[in-house]
Amino acid sequence: MEQVSNHTTDQTNAIANKEDRYTSKMYEASGDLVNYWYAAGQSKEFKTGKPQARTIFDIPIVFWRKKDGTVSAILDRCNHRNAPLSKGKTIDDCLVCPYHGWKYDPNGQCVDIPSEGPYKERIPNKKVDAYKITEQYGLVWVWMGRKAPDKEPFKMPIMEEKGWKWYYMRTPFPNNVTDLVENFMDVPHTVYVHEGWFRDRKQIAVVAKVERTEDSVLVSYDQPNDSIGFSQLIVNPKKLPMKHTDNFYMPNNTRVDYTYGEQERGFIICSTCTPVRPFETMVYTLISYKFGWLTPLIGLGLPFYTRKVIQQDVDIMKLHAENLEKFNYKTEYRSTLCDAMHIYIESLREHAVEPKKQVPKPIVKEVEFWI
Ligand code: FES
Ligand SMILES: [Fe+2]
Repeated sequence: MEQVSNHTTDQTNAIANKEDRYTSKMYEASGDLVNYWYAAGQSKEFKTGKPQARTIFDIPIVFWRKKDGTVSAILDRCNHRNAPLSKGKTIDDCLVCPYHGWKYDPNGQCVDIPSEGPYKERIPNKKVDAYKITEQYGLVWVWMGRKAPDKEPFKMPIMEEKGWKWYYMRTPFPNNVTDLVENFMDVPHTVYVHEGWFRDRKQIAVVAKVERTEDSVLVSYDQPNDSIGFSQLIVNPKKLPMKHTDNFYMPNNTRVDYTYGEQERGFIICSTCTPVRPFETMVYTLISYKFGWLTPLIGLGLPFYTRKVIQQDVDIMKLHAENLEKFNYKTEYRSTLCDAMHIYIESLREHAVEPKKQVPKPIVKEVEFWI
């Protein structure tokens, strides 16, 4: 008996000497993009004691909420025979592997091996990778960076001011983060992809100011008379001037504001994109809205409407990704002046992946396009 357990311990110690954390090809290819907080889900998805599996940067992670209300996250792979811990259960805030019952604490440390009885010294000292978690703006965020967290999660603009209502939508998109954030910032596509739903084609010229800072791309439109979505009688009965801004914030966030007057009415659509696999992204969209006494009524129809519009984007992004695949992902994008925001987004994200490339300088450009 003694012999067998020593043998087991020796074997596992050999694994324990490997210091490195588990990563993936996608993680390794993402440079500085991994050094941010990423949304793992809405807080309400994480119920006490119920393990939740997520994949981020192609790394499987299991999350669970403990009795004190906080959430823990460790690599979703048991040290023993690599079974998925997310299929196990929680006992005393620890996670128990469904295969042979190895038990892990929230730091990823194995604290019990049932088959070794009371011999704690037989537990291998290699831990399962653990990840830092924070919970803000109704989302659970995970830090998978190569360094300790040195920034806050992206501030989702939850409108606490009176009159605003909001809700989240969670949408899996079959495309990558760069192409998605560009889609969310893209005005010319709205008259094609969302024709009849969001904006109709009128062939009018719109002037936009496009600004790139070191970590954002800010676009403001001069189109006080533009109309979107529902009837103008509902969204803007007083014919207040519309303000429209489309902003991108590194590395994966967009915020689109359509407001009337001094935020008397309007929509704010904010998305944070979590990379799942190279062409799979989970998008958390915060929809905020305010339409005076019509707000509750609009709230009844808005989830259906926003689901429909987002589904149209999912469909075009799916076609786009499928076509990229047909050409072995060798992109040959041609751009015109109207694509300035896309080029700026790509430059910031590419620089994060390859910091040796020249730092994108701050720039402001005026562009005109027809919609
Ligand atoms: S694989 Fe997890 S306990 Fe054996
Ligand atoms: Fe769209």
